Amino acid sequence: MRKILLLLLLLPVLYMQAQTPAIIPEPVSMTMGKGKFTINRHTVIVADDASVNDAVNFFNQYLQTNYGFKLAVKRQHSGSAIRFISRIFVRAPDKDAYQLTVDSKGIRIEGDTHAGTFYAVQTLIQLLPVEKSASLVMPAVSINDYPRFKYRGMMLDVSRHFFSVALVKKYLDYLALHKINYFHWHLTDDQGWRIEIKKYPMLTQTGAWRNGTLVGRYPGTGNTHQRYGGYYTQAQIKEVVAYAAARYITVVPEIEMPGHGSAAIAAYPELSCFPQRSTYSYYPKECVWSGDTTGKQVQQTWGVFDDVFCAGKEQTFQFLQDVIDEIIPLFPGQYIHVGGDECPKENWKQCPDCQQRIRTNGLKDEHELQSYLIQRMEKYINQKGRKLIGWDEILEGGLAPNATVMSWRGEKGGIEAAAQKHPVIMTPTTYVYFDYAQSRREDSVTNGGVNDLEKIYGYNPIPSAMPDTDTVFVLGAQANMWTEYITNQRKLEYMLFPRLAALSEVLWTPLAKKSMENFVRKLPVQLKRYDRWKANYSRAFYQLKQKVTRAPGHALYWELSSRSDDWMTINFNGGDSVWGYVKPQLIDRDTRAYARQGDQSISQKFLFNKATAKDATLNPAPSKNYPGEGSFTLVNGIITERKLQEADYWIGYQGTAFTITIDLDRDDNFSEIKLATLQQPSSWIYAPAAIGVSVSDDKVNFREIKDIVSSFNQNELTIKLPQTAKARFLRLHVPEGQRIPAGAPGAGSKAWVFLQEVSVN
Ligand code: ACM
Ligand code: ZN
Repeated sequence: MRKILLLLLLLPVLYMQAQTPAIIPEPVSMTMGKGKFTINRHTVIVADDASVNDAVNFFNQYLQTNYGFKLAVKRQHSGSAIRFISRIFVRAPDKDAYQLTVDSKGIRIEGDTHAGTFYAVQTLIQLLPVEKSASLVMPAVSINDYPRFKYRGMMLDVSRHFFSVALVKKYLDYLALHKINYFHWHLTDDQGWRIEIKKYPMLTQTGAWRNGTLVGRYPGTGNTHQRYGGYYTQAQIKEVVAYAAARYITVVPEIEMPGHGSAAIAAYPELSCFPQRSTYSYYPKECVWSGDTTGKQVQQTWGVFDDVFCAGKEQTFQFLQDVIDEIIPLFPGQYIHVGGDECPKENWKQCPDCQQRIRTNGLKDEHELQSYLIQRMEKYINQKGRKLIGWDEILEGGLAPNATVMSWRGEKGGIEAAAQKHPVIMTPTTYVYFDYAQSRREDSVTNGGVNDLEKIYGYNPIPSAMPDTDTVFVLGAQANMWTEYITNQRKLEYMLFPRLAALSEVLWTPLAKKSMENFVRKLPVQLKRYDRWKANYSRAFYQLKQKVTRAPGHALYWELSSRSDDWMTINFNGGDSVWGYVKPQLIDRDTRAYARQGDQSISQKFLFNKATAKDATLNPAPSKNYPGEGSFTLVNGIITERKLQEADYWIGYQGTAFTITIDLDRDDNFSEIKLATLQQPSSWIYAPAAIGVSVSDDKVNFREIKDIVSSFNQNELTIKLPQTAKARFLRLHVPEGQRIPAGAPGAGSKAWVFLQEVSVN
């Protein structure tokens, strides 16, 4: 009965859905008309001007690939037709606007620019029915449209894993279909140099190949022990750039400097401050190495490496300029990206040449040395008529005069660069890193935290903290596809879709027209389009999800939800399964909880102790980057084995001491405290040491407990009290993280401390 009622209520909605096409990104304005138009194999395309050929060809190719036919193109035709009308440069020429009209007599496409015409075709494609048919019926509609941002970018890292020319072209098609207009091609990094440079043949003979690759999530469970690599010839690069240009996509090549240079150094060791020091001697000890340990090698694991380009030697500049000389004719776009991120200064501090350069040029420190290098390269690039882009580290030590900044470490770099009147492209990790998981329960290996569809959709490239007068400097935004854990086409598509659809509305759709509710309505159609393209995609948005909250009486609620249905089976401790509408379930003791819906399931273990679901406070609050769910995270009964991926279950601090105060609600006895923590030096994370314990009856006067004994094992820190304590309030004093020791990743920085649970017994 309930279901029938629901269906009746839904009918008007379904009717509306049939009326309003699912256009992604949502256009500026769309007015439904009366009637319809049908495309079949006899429909004619009329193009009065060869300048619209790219748009016409893309449309015909799309029809051929997805519906099995293409249309004849004529200069003139008197009957009904799909008409491409050139009104190029008649109206606002820099806006790339278009008008698309469908009525019973045909289709009219008018672009203000060639790009506008091309975008009209992308919209037209979305008016086609998703089902394959010889007769494609579309509703009468009139659309006026143009993009919100000029720079709508998508990056692909081809160094960590290499992708063929054919796959890069497919990627470009995907970008075009989402009205993305910049392809940032990350061509060089520690794990492989991927572009032929004729003057330096060893870059690809040596630098494009590594002797093995880390297996699993860093620091990994081993090494493939297989030679891996590949590169693009200059002829292939030209082919890709032309393919992109036909899709109104500009390719931005990235040549990393002065960090992330291991592959180039493997080819030309003299680029290093210390050509004699082996790559292996810098290699993180927790990762497995494959093959020759001597000399300079292409890296086999991920991260940031101390062996960078020497900024002291002239030879380095000669090399970098020679490379730029060959890059510039290959990439006709205005931008050259020089990286500039994550360059450790350890070698520069020890290098006589680098120190000499600092003295000679009156530089303050190694950060100014990095600025010296970037500014010198900018001058060179500017002289050749091109513009430099760098990651936000190029702000440190002074920004190059004309540089465009890509803000990736949050929004701060972008806000600062705009304040200095520099153009900015926003690409913050916390919203648009597509190497992050799409849900907390991601099964495949991914990097970093979680950037789900809602989060990406909700992103605004204009930071709320940016003064209005600076917003003109924000060119747009870009999502980044780092490929440490992306080895093949299916995984690449899975990480891209449907997040690219959300990104396209972030970049294109006017704020006033952006609506998650409308996006959710359109999403099923978009997923069917992905099916039509035979593209893989994530279904995480429709995943079964859990939320754990406080319940009265120091218990927990376990709440389940999904976008598909409220009905599912649940059971506890392997007992009888119950099928039903799931209200929050009360959990008040050790429990193995299990829920299933269709082919999805969640298993969650809850462990209770004297602190579970009690009031707790943290002082100060954790890092903004790792806030978890505040103090509740430490008493929610959940200890996850999935490390930082399930970021809600962790809190993190860097360089800050903090206290945890737990109200046990009554005088209670306890003699042992366990902290679920994390020891992961590769990520700058160290288990806390020398924790102090104090207790109180009034939360005002605390007395320290002396002679406690701590031991650490398997990410668990156990604190034993000398005798059983009796108190209502317990306070743990966690000192700030140690300085990271020399030789370890992040040496000299303050370590992170991560906690996920406090158990008191
Ligand atoms: C970056 O993610 N290192 C730019
Ligand atoms: Zn040096």
